[in-house]
Amino acid sequence: MKTLTSAQVRQMYLDFFASKGHEVIPSASLIPVNDPTLLWINAGVAPLKKYFDGTEIPNNPRMTNAQKSIRTNDIENVGVTARHHTLFEMLGNWSIGDYFKEEAIAWAWEFLTSPEWLAFEPEKLFVTYYPKDEETPKIWAKQANFDASHLVPVEDNFWDIGAGPCGPDTEIFYDRGPSFSNLAEDDPENYPGGENERWLEIWNLVFSEFNHLPDGTYVPLPAKNVDTGMGLERVSSVIQNTPTNYETDLFMPIIKAIESLTKGIVFEEAGAKQVSFKVIADHIRAVSFAISDGALPSNEGRGYIIRRLIRRSVMHGRKLGINHTFLSQLVPVIAKVMGEFYAELEANVAFVQKIILSEEERFHETIEGGESQLAQILADLKEAGQTQIAGPQVFQLYDTFGFPLELTQEMAHENGFTVDEAGFEVEMEAQRQRARSARSQEESFSVKSEAFKQIDVDFEFVGYTQLETNGTIKVIIQDDQQIDKLAPHSQGWVVFNRSPFYAEMGGQVADKGGIFDGETMLAEVLDVKKAPNGQFMHLLKTFDMPLLVEQSYSLEVDRASRIKTNQNHSATHLLHKALRTILGEHAHQAGSYVGPDRLRFDFSHFAKVTPEELQQISAFVNYWIENAADVHVNEMSLDEAKATGAMALFGEKYGEVVRVVNIANESIELCGGTHVSNTNEIGTFKLISESGIGAGIRRIEALTGQAAIADYQKQEQLLQQVQEQLKVAQSDQLLHKVSQLQEELKEAQAHVDSLTAKMLQAESAKLFSQVETVNDTTYIALEMANQSMDAMRNLGDIWRQQNPSDIFIIASTDEEKVNVMVFVSDQAVARGYKAGNMIKPLAKLVGGGGGGKPQMAQAGGKNPAGVSDLIAAIPQVITEQEVK
Ligand code: ALA
Repeated sequence: MKTLTSAQVRQMYLDFFASKGHEVIPSASLIPVNDPTLLWINAGVAPLKKYFDGTEIPNNPRMTNAQKSIRTNDIENVGVTARHHTLFEMLGNWSIGDYFKEEAIAWAWEFLTSPEWLAFEPEKLFVTYYPKDEETPKIWAKQANFDASHLVPVEDNFWDIGAGPCGPDTEIFYDRGPSFSNLAEDDPENYPGGENERWLEIWNLVFSEFNHLPDGTYVPLPAKNVDTGMGLERVSSVIQNTPTNYETDLFMPIIKAIESLTKGIVFEEAGAKQVSFKVIADHIRAVSFAISDGALPSNEGRGYIIRRLIRRSVMHGRKLGINHTFLSQLVPVIAKVMGEFYAELEANVAFVQKIILSEEERFHETIEGGESQLAQILADLKEAGQTQIAGPQVFQLYDTFGFPLELTQEMAHENGFTVDEAGFEVEMEAQRQRARSARSQEESFSVKSEAFKQIDVDFEFVGYTQLETNGTIKVIIQDDQQIDKLAPHSQGWVVFNRSPFYAEMGGQVADKGGIFDGETMLAEVLDVKKAPNGQFMHLLKTFDMPLLVEQSYSLEVDRASRIKTNQNHSATHLLHKALRTILGEHAHQAGSYVGPDRLRFDFSHFAKVTPEELQQISAFVNYWIENAADVHVNEMSLDEAKATGAMALFGEKYGEVVRVVNIANESIELCGGTHVSNTNEIGTFKLISESGIGAGIRRIEALTGQAAIADYQKQEQLLQQVQEQLKVAQSDQLLHKVSQLQEELKEAQAHVDSLTAKMLQAESAKLFSQVETVNDTTYIALEMANQSMDAMRNLGDIWRQQNPSDIFIIASTDEEKVNVMVFVSDQAVARGYKAGNMIKPLAKLVGGGGGGKPQMAQAGGKNPAGVSDLIAAIPQVITEQEVK
């Protein structure tokens, strides 16, 4: 075997498959595009699903890449086993309906064993296969120097991880030798394919023939495909002969950096603490890549995972004696190890560090807050004579305050308490259940109908320059069948040889319009979609006449709505640029809608966009509108486009030739959409809303042109109505008028308050006339209706001045709730009475809780019917106080 760095292994893999006619494609973002079934890209195949299911046809049916992937289902194993990770790099090669088992197996064997490539010893390699797949072992047995006794049938060799392509697989294992074994010789898991550390799975070849739909059913894929995945970390550990993946050149620099932050703990000698080094090194890689791809810490979905990984790392840091913020310092180290291949990380180091640091700081605050919460819980338990913290309380600390279970356990044990872990687990499971059912069930991966896939006619889109053209019908599809005639009063998908109608793409909606014969409109265009091979399919609704294949018609786009869509599309580009200029480069596009009515733009950003920022954004866009900049559209190669600095979207498929939309060299984007030819045509740009739509994703909606003006007019009308209502002649006097009214209201309120106080004062003799006595203590209890807490407090003050009893209790009810206040005089406090203690048992009787100080306490309850019980219980409560 050769000695290679991990970077060399990665490159060799790509070179090998390039030499076998594969196109080397870039790693997709970790954040899935248009795939609600996945939280993260979790395998090389994940971003390629669209090719497997026939939604799109790739440039080249053979592809290869190194794909960054995240899996969190094995998170508990990370750092504990030699081989589990959250983020890992998957080297893969794919065939979309091209080569199949023969080539996939032969090439895998060649890459692994040929002296030109990895040069592994054949006798070290073992292979598992799916028992029902009889071809695969035969193909393996044919490979040069392959020992057929190394073939092992394994029942679960069927690769299937939720919605997406799946099929039987064959897995390649490297025998690291008995010294790596963590199991007894006769352990049932002690074989290649079992859960052990001796035979390490390095490569999985999947023969994808089925599609697992989100509803759990399996349907055949349109073609037979190959999907393979080789774990770079594992192969590197074999080649570099390291005990686990962590001692390879991928992790060691990070581990060394962590080492330098501890007070002298050396990784090699750290024993059980090695796990903490490994967990941190693993998690910080995942967090850094996820953030550089636009995910941000939050309380849900992806953001929650990032938060959790950061928090786990902080906790492991504490185990190594690192009690200060430190994680962000590791980001440049990762960029040094992997940034050359993954340029996006290199480019975002400062941003990633900023996010991690602020999250770490928040977590340190959480830990402090949680510690004081927990101290209170422990004090209460002590008082109640209990020694166990209940599951729901532990869960609440964890869920609401983000306080980790481990810390609760640690602090509980230090203080002689136990933790109800089973109860905590019950709550956790309920939480997981909620998370599962919340996950979108939307179908993202539908096998496209064969009829659409088979469309292979030539097609030309002329809609960038023309809104009307003659076109001949080439294909009509109705109910998945090709037909020759679309009958009157029916609907069907129609492909012309040429069309000016834009198909829904890149956020821009399809054009509307009609199909004409001379002046007569024969059909309405309801929708336009792109077929798998790129032709535009028009969903037509015919009127009184049929449409016929090979007949020529006039196709006319609804001009007014196209012009509005153009305005919104160009404005969207300017908005994107404005966001990146004003908020920062991290403001990646996360989705958009461009229609004739308005535009919507989703982007990654970690905070609400402030009113000042919104104003700047709007000013930026309007500046470029006023400047009447020409919009240049050019076609060029992808490389040329990249050289211009054009922004491309992750997950989009770009052909050899791309369209670049350039607005004044200010905004340069790869885009297939339609645009104005000069920014002046946008007219004006008006923001209408900014909101959060998910973890770290914000949404801006805006209007342009006539729609923006109409919106200004609507607001002006509203302002006029307010003006009339308030009887103000000029709108600039409105603010003054409103503050004047507020001032008047405040004065009136004060007047009411003082009158109420006077009234109460006058009535107090009557209110305080019923003094009861329990043993030597006097009290007054009042049942009242509809009193605010403020009014009750006032009454308490009057009571305190007049001092008619030791204790004073008021319960005020309305239809739904009860307010309770307990007042204790200073003399009674001196004798040991505490309002705060008395209110608890009283509030319970009206279905509520509360608390307070010795002199005064307040509570709210939801059961007005309990008030008479409350009044009746007062003597008892006072007596109990005396005993204490
Ligand atoms: N998609 C296959 C895997 O992840 C190659 O193992």
